[in-house]
Amino acid sequence: MSADPSAQAVRKLVRWFRDEGPDLPWRRTRDRWAVLVSEVMLQATPVARVLPYYETWMARWPRPGHLAAEPVGEAIAAWQGLGYPRRARNLHAAAGVVAAHGWPPPDRYRDLPGVGAYTADALRCFADELPVLPEDVNVARVIARRFPDGWPGAPRGRAWDAGQAMMDLGREFCRARAPRCDDGCPLRSGCPAADAGVVHEVTPRGRRQARYEGSMRQRRGFLLRALAEDGRARVDADPEAAESLLAEGLADRRGRLLVPAGSGR
Ligand code: ADE
Repeated sequence: MSADPSAQAVRKLVRWFRDEGPDLPWRRTRDRWAVLVSEVMLQATPVARVLPYYETWMARWPRPGHLAAEPVGEAIAAWQGLGYPRRARNLHAAAGVVAAHGWPPPDRYRDLPGVGAYTADALRCFADELPVLPEDVNVARVIARRFPDGWPGAPRGRAWDAGQAMMDLGREFCRARAPRCDDGCPLRSGCPAADAGVVHEVTPRGRRQARYEGSMRQRRGFLLRALAEDGRARVDADPEAAESLLAEGLADRRGRLLVPAGSGR
């Protein structure tokens, strides 16, 4: 066993996760579709908010082919309330590719629509259990603070646990603004940032979310909600927001109305 303190810290983290890590539904499976759906939802949305959407989505579309068989507007409507609906559109497109051609090999996950570096690594780690660490902003922050010399890697066969544990540590303890170093952080001992009292300074900047109130995101959201609830919305209710949805394929136009994307097929 390695005496390297960083490697020891990872072993401790994995033990902590095994004892304390929350039992989340996407952790009971290694199914690629389930992992993809959960990770795309979790990209910009907190766990508690994702849970009901994930359960509903997977019950309705348990395999990529189920989703691919429906118009994209159904995916966008089911996404209603999660935000950033382009993610729903991309998931629908990815489902279509997988249904038609099967899953690409793990080193080609990025060929799937909407799958970037993070999501590809998340699939490799959380579905295939390959030794990679998916690095979102939370994980990047934990690494910057606790592993400034870089991620030492997980013990053999423990990449999945280490990856999930890093997600939990970033969310529960090593938080951006209110870190809980002395409130039970399992990696407090030996933490260089905490020992030096610089935890707040060692905080890689995430992308700041722009103000929602009055934003184009909000205006698009109003129209998408009308589409999900009533099956249509008037273009002249907000022509600019309507144009933006049309340009991204998040809605279709029928005369003066917006209708759900793909519904006119
Ligand atoms: N955030 C991103 N991926 C996650 C996961 N697998 N579990 C909990 N939070 C996450």
